[in-house]
Amino acid sequence: MTDSKNFKAVVAGTGAYLPEKILTNQELEKKLDTSDAWIVERTGIRERRIAAKDECASSMAAKAGRQALEAGGLEAKEVDLIIVCTSSPDVLFPSTACFVQNELEAFGAAAFDVSAVCSGFIFGLSVAEQYLKTGRYENILLIGSEVNSRIVDWTDRSTCILFGDGAGAVLLKRVEWGKPLGVMSTHIYSDGSLSDLICVPGGIGKSGINKDDIDDKKYFIKMSGNATFKVAVKRMADVIREALKFNDLSMEEVSLLIPHQANERIISAVADRLKYPLEKVFMNIQKYGNTSAASIPIGINEARRSGRIEPGDTTVLGSVGAGLTWGSAVIKW
Ligand code: ACO
Repeated sequence: MTDSKNFKAVVAGTGAYLPEKILTNQELEKKLDTSDAWIVERTGIRERRIAAKDECASSMAAKAGRQALEAGGLEAKEVDLIIVCTSSPDVLFPSTACFVQNELEAFGAAAFDVSAVCSGFIFGLSVAEQYLKTGRYENILLIGSEVNSRIVDWTDRSTCILFGDGAGAVLLKRVEWGKPLGVMSTHIYSDGSLSDLICVPGGIGKSGINKDDIDDKKYFIKMSGNATFKVAVKRMADVIREALKFNDLSMEEVSLLIPHQANERIISAVADRLKYPLEKVFMNIQKYGNTSAASIPIGINEARRSGRIEPGDTTVLGSVGAGLTWGSAVIKW
């Protein structure tokens, strides 16, 4: 066993894939009792991407993953582990990660999924970090991919307007501990007593897939939006504060905050609590809506490629999702 202080994880490449089809608020206005004005005012969302019929979590994940490998200059056969964070997997099993492995022909890698819904990417990062810190693995492909459009009830205006599809990926590499860059910390939490706040309640292992649950639309996302909103702001702000304290960092030293993109008002309220300027908060929710586990890696990829993350920068990630799950991470570039 190697001393865990010997190694760290660095982001060596990033990638993303967003389906071509754009669904605007104006199009939703035609199908639902809603309005562009309501959606923009309450969520900040203007449009979202919808996967094509032949796309799914694994196909989008493979595209994002391939881009991250290219950016990091690594061949698929050199990947030791593929982690796919998703709550809209292709099938119940095998894991979506196994399909991605096959598509990438990354046959030297172990592959598994992480299920923590909108906190999935930070939970996955926390898992990957452990394998790299202990020296067990050298190259890990970490992907968030969601096809939320298949698990929302398109007649429920309180949820369907929120979600979108997409995938984001990072290639993580092992480096010597002494380097002043990489994943500096991850903090993750869960509270299963709040599982009713956001869930897909239909039975699988619990009661078997059954007609009653199908008829009651229980295989779609149900959410107590207002109650979730309140816990989301506090938990995300608190866990970001914890990350700062752990790293002995002040908010001024953070160059970019990349929060999970659930709602523009949640993001603004978190920034407000942290007394952090909104201009330094990454936001793309207007274009993609809530892409669950994909939202943070899509954000990292966009920020990196558009020059909002430069060498020497310190980035903080924060999330809240169904479970309830929440987490934060600090990355130095
Ligand atoms: N268009 C028009 N009116 C609507 C719509 C809509 N699309 N949806 C709801 N309304 C109505 C409601 O029926 C309600 O009407 P009423 O007052 O007559 O009863 C009114 O608008 C207000 O509804 P609220 O639910 O109180 O609206 P709120 O301001 O809370 O916004 C929202 C709803 C956007 C869902 C917000 O609560 C939210 O973002 N919550 C948090 C979501 C979140 O963070 N999820 C975590 C991650 S998701 C995951 O893990 C899968």
